[in-house]
Amino acid sequence: MQDYIVQMNQICKSFPGVKALENVSFDLKAGEVMALLGENGAGKSTLVKILSGVYTKDKGEITVFNELIHNMTQKIANEKGIAIIHQELNMCQHLTVAQNIFLGREPVKYGLIDNKRMNKDSRAILEKLGVSIDPETITGSLQVSKQQMVEIAKALSIDAKVLIMDEPTSALTSREIDELFNIIRNLKSSGCGIVYISHRLEELTNIADRVTIMRDGQFITSGSYKDFTMDQIIAHMVGREIKEKYPHVDCEVGEVVFEVKNINAGRMVRNVSFNIRKGELVGIAGLMGAGRTETTRAIFGADPKENGQIFLNGKEIKINNPKNAIAAGIVLAPENRKTDGLCIKLPVRENISLPNLDIISNKAGVVKLKNDYKMSEKAVQDINIKLPTVDVNAENLSGGNQQKVVVGKWLSGNSKMVMFDEPTRGIDVAAKVEIYHLMNKLKREGIGCLFVSSELPEIIGVADRIIVMCDGRITGELSRNEATQEKVLTLATRFENKISN
Ligand SMILES: Nc1ncnc2c1ncn2[C@@H]1O[C@H](COP(=O)(O)OP(=O)(O)OP(=O)(O)O)[C@@H](O)[C@H]1O
Ligand SMILES: [Mg+2]
Repeated sequence: MQDYIVQMNQICKSFPGVKALENVSFDLKAGEVMALLGENGAGKSTLVKILSGVYTKDKGEITVFNELIHNMTQKIANEKGIAIIHQELNMCQHLTVAQNIFLGREPVKYGLIDNKRMNKDSRAILEKLGVSIDPETITGSLQVSKQQMVEIAKALSIDAKVLIMDEPTSALTSREIDELFNIIRNLKSSGCGIVYISHRLEELTNIADRVTIMRDGQFITSGSYKDFTMDQIIAHMVGREIKEKYPHVDCEVGEVVFEVKNINAGRMVRNVSFNIRKGELVGIAGLMGAGRTETTRAIFGADPKENGQIFLNGKEIKINNPKNAIAAGIVLAPENRKTDGLCIKLPVRENISLPNLDIISNKAGVVKLKNDYKMSEKAVQDINIKLPTVDVNAENLSGGNQQKVVVGKWLSGNSKMVMFDEPTRGIDVAAKVEIYHLMNKLKREGIGCLFVSSELPEIIGVADRIIVMCDGRITGELSRNEATQEKVLTLATRFENKISN
């Protein structure tokens, strides 16, 4: 019998108003990948934070390498070789990559930090990961996916025996994901046990040995991955069957609601033109770095445009900043919830009402608290955000529920054109379906609806029309009937060779 290297028994943990974990048991063997699955707010991150000493459990037992640990702290976890890659990036933005990797464990020479060694060792780890990042770069200047790789490098640098990955791939490119899976296979063969949390269930085929499924803070089941079908896994996670993963409704297509003509904004948005008709849900597909986010930001006025025109219901609108866009009813739910999408220190209620103050205020411009509560509670109900009260700070929500707030705040107002940038990132299967229903609802109401997505099955499944971008340009358009993964990918890689030159 293979030995367990981690055993967690009957773990309980409560936060004010929330029972995050109730008698949850979990175990991990050496050399295996254990996928930890569950809906948003199921308690996955809380469980692994307890294992890595970030949170203290209220009750229960933790045994690591056959030793009962009464008070797990981050220091003990480190000593035992437990490393965690957090769901939300945890880098000190102003420090260099090497300083982040060795934070708190800096090599010392003659009583001073040995920067030379730190940079050299960091370079070696990054090379092993197959990423070209200079260890002396300031971390904050890196793209999110690169920062994620630094986070992974940091975990690997402590020579982990138990490596916890909380949604490591949500911001990675497909090439980086392949690299990561290679690393995971190498770690496995060296005997490292890996806890893998992800909402990208299709990834599991490549790496999962066993699964543990949680729901509402409780352990539901665990077992060998190959003994479950995907539908069974989803049913255990959600508590019911999901029949239609990509709901689509056919609406009568009417006149053009929204149009952009020849927008240029830096290298990543070149001569972009497209339109959206009434009753249509339009998706923008492309590989990471294709200029999709930059396009939505340029339209929204978050980045400057060199030229181009924007029309809403046939009328030209001048957008120089997000304020102009919001005033016109054109809104953006951005991809990075922590930095762009939320005020994480504010309650959910205020996050939802901030862009809608005009609706909830009286004639004198004073916010009516009753309306404020009504609006946020409705949003919470509409998209099923899991929280104890709307007064809880956004930072205390689980990752996926934070994402729902980002989306929810724009649905409460008088938006006429809504752009979603990766709206389902980090969101569980059931919540994804809810977001698709919401987009369908907007489309039925005649509101322009555009969404950027890196998940091909999703974009092919729910969009009426797909615009494909590559290297800052639109390379083609496919109707719902003609779209296939191959066709989208061909358009999405049209300039690939040129880019790598
Ligand atoms: N620091 C905290 N303060 C208050 N409540 C918290 C805190 N951390 C987590 N919670 C609550 O505990 C519950 C479990 O959250 P957790 O982050 O573990 O979920 P999760 O399974 O990781 O979800 P996701 O897939 O969205 O990341 C949620 O209801 C969340 O709001
Ligand atoms: Mg989580």
